[in-house]
Amino acid sequence: MPPLAAYPALRLRRLRQADWIRRLVRETVLTPADLIWSMVVHEGEGQVPVASMPGVARLSVDEAAKAAVEARRLGIPAIAIFPHIDMARKDPTGSLAADPDGLICRAVKAMKDAAPEVGIMCDVALDPFTDHGHDGVIEQGRILNDATIERLVEQALVQAKAGCDILAPSDMMDGRVGALRTALEAEGLQDVMIMSYAAKYASAFYGPYRDAIGSGKLGTGSVDNPGDKKTYQMDPANTEEALREVALDIAEGADMVMVKPGLPYLDILRRLVEAYALPTFAFQVSGEYAMIKAAGANGWIDEDRAILESLGAFKRAGAAGTITYFAPHAARLLGA
Ligand code: PBG
Repeated sequence: MPPLAAYPALRLRRLRQADWIRRLVRETVLTPADLIWSMVVHEGEGQVPVASMPGVARLSVDEAAKAAVEARRLGIPAIAIFPHIDMARKDPTGSLAADPDGLICRAVKAMKDAAPEVGIMCDVALDPFTDHGHDGVIEQGRILNDATIERLVEQALVQAKAGCDILAPSDMMDGRVGALRTALEAEGLQDVMIMSYAAKYASAFYGPYRDAIGSGKLGTGSVDNPGDKKTYQMDPANTEEALREVALDIAEGADMVMVKPGLPYLDILRRLVEAYALPTFAFQVSGEYAMIKAAGANGWIDEDRAILESLGAFKRAGAAGTITYFAPHAARLLGA
């Protein structure tokens, strides 16, 4: 880089003086194509608002199909769906996760029928289906890695056969990406993509999500149930470990990776983007959504500006896209 001129020859404010020149020198531009719509579906009819996430509702399968059409209209490329399951139907091993006629499979089919041009991404994890709320099978208070992977493979195959485009394992078991990739190949499902939740942290920011999907309270219930997910999700203090997690997932056959939560882990996202040449996504999680909504509702921040600024931050940091509950609203703010 040539040496910079010095003030007063150099005045950086010259390029900020009017909207037209700011637009001209802008380095990144957020578009609806940067968004994956995070959506919760339920077994019942219509829409059921989620108390801790104002503006988000659980959608019936029919409503989810309509939302897919809306996503297409708004130019949102993909939707990530998460199931709300009645507590009475959950069990310790999350049996319903592998039900080919279950909620997620029915939603995938309805959405792909309604809007085949919109990509559908499914979470591969047992927690919506286990009565204890953990992402794995528990034995004497321990989350079993390899037994859980067997269940995840069954779950992923029914999702893929229902038409899911992207499998997104969010469980953080070791070796699950390789197991999924091998199973997909064996079943002739080689075009199904894997976006692994590669660097997923044991975070306080998932609180409203557990409300949204009706998760049991960790640490309670019939089994010996650890009160947090720290034996499988990452320690928020770590960054080198994120590089190792992602390297492993790439080696096992992940097509894309994700960092979760979003804004509090922007440094991790940036490091991964610099280290590996593959599409890296951010998940702006439920707690991040709830914070912006709560401050906005109180008039403490300009909500719409905060939404676009936060999503723009992921783009600036190098994300290929962001999974967000704000997707349809943000797309409309962007003029879609
Ligand atoms: C579960 C899963 C979680 C989220 C996505 N998949 C919660 C968790 O790991 O406890 C969080 C989503 C959000 O907070 O928006 N495997």
